[in-house]
Amino acid sequence: MHKILAAGIGITKFGEQWEKSLRELAIEAALQALEDAQIERNQIDMLFVGNMSSGRFTGQEHLGALIASELGLSCSATRVEAACASGGLAIRQAYLALLSGKAECCLVIGVEKMCDLPTNEAILTLAAAADQEWEAYYGVTFPGLYAMLARRHMHEFGTTREQLALVAVKNHEHGSLNPIAQFRNKITVEDVFNSSPVAEPLNLLDCSPITDGAAAILLCKENFVKIEKPVYLIASGHAVDSIALHERASLTELKATKLAAKQAYEEARIKPSDVDFAEVHDCFTIAEILAYEDLGFCEKGKGGKFIENGESTLKGSLPVNTSGGLKACGHPVGATGVKQAVEAVLQLREEAGERQVKGARIGLTHNVGGSGATCVVHIWEKGY
Ligand code: COA
Repeated sequence: MHKILAAGIGITKFGEQWEKSLRELAIEAALQALEDAQIERNQIDMLFVGNMSSGRFTGQEHLGALIASELGLSCSATRVEAACASGGLAIRQAYLALLSGKAECCLVIGVEKMCDLPTNEAILTLAAAADQEWEAYYGVTFPGLYAMLARRHMHEFGTTREQLALVAVKNHEHGSLNPIAQFRNKITVEDVFNSSPVAEPLNLLDCSPITDGAAAILLCKENFVKIEKPVYLIASGHAVDSIALHERASLTELKATKLAAKQAYEEARIKPSDVDFAEVHDCFTIAEILAYEDLGFCEKGKGGKFIENGESTLKGSLPVNTSGGLKACGHPVGATGVKQAVEAVLQLREEAGERQVKGARIGLTHNVGGSGATCVVHIWEKGY
């Protein structure tokens, strides 16, 4: 088992940030992480920037060099893109660089500035991560694709509209406890039912929002720096599937999640039942139900019951999305995978405040790109 040290973390407020530019968000998170780890900039060997579509959202490409130079760095700097899994995949690139021996200390930043575009243009930008010829060309967007997954799950397993809504209710409850969350208001099942229809059966409150934000994490060799409350990244899994839904054997599971999770569990030598909390990719309420099943937290088809029975609430057997998830904390797409890691570190350092999971030793983060074409799973362990 490998032990990569999570030496420092940083995160900006998530939400509409008209007064800050893309680079300012990235630098704010990065400086927090450096301060947190007490590491100097010149100790960084490599920078990885997770970002999905800064060119379309803000007109700015070439983020590796841009953000490195803003930080005064001339080291290796690489932008990593895998749609909404860009942040998670950037963490994996740092993990691999550290294991390869080419680096001792890597800074990973996830950043996206989406709110500068009107919603219709933001949705088209996001749809570039779907299959252009077979999906987006015909007008299908991500809410539409996930609505099809929801319909099929309801048809095959009897998952109810209320069970979907309960995911949003829980994540808003958790988000209300997170100072950086985009939405801190609590909602009810009725609120979800009464919110505007987006793509049947999904309403506005079943969707993650459009968000600006950045998160950063410093990953180092185990003994690179002395940390009072060390947290380790102990496993990384990554798999892909067809981008287009029609090429998949099943619409009720994300094969890439199952494969990435299997790799991560094997590498960490743990079982799903060893996980104490998880941050999963709830871009739409159905996505969290699929994640419970594909990550092995419950049997296939039982995800609806898992949320209905309260298993994934803060007081449940396996709290999920203590940050508020993508739904309430917000979903600045390239930053999300890194935000999940920041939440895992906060939980394992026992610094999560009112949303602390008591006694947590193992956390899992699950970051999905598109409608499941990319999945990255990481496992984090308390080291003290
Ligand atoms: N959850 C909760 N509230 C939301 C919200 C969401 N997802 N999206 C918007 N709101 C709120 C806004 O804050 C605003 O509240 P206010 O009137 O009190 O200010 C109100 O709803 C209307 O906001 P607006 O920006 O006009 O919404 P919209 O109709 O333009 O966009 C969605 C709503 C759901 C279409 C948009 O958030 C969306 O496309 N989400 C999906 C993003 C996505 O696909 N991500 C990639 C996943 S793979």
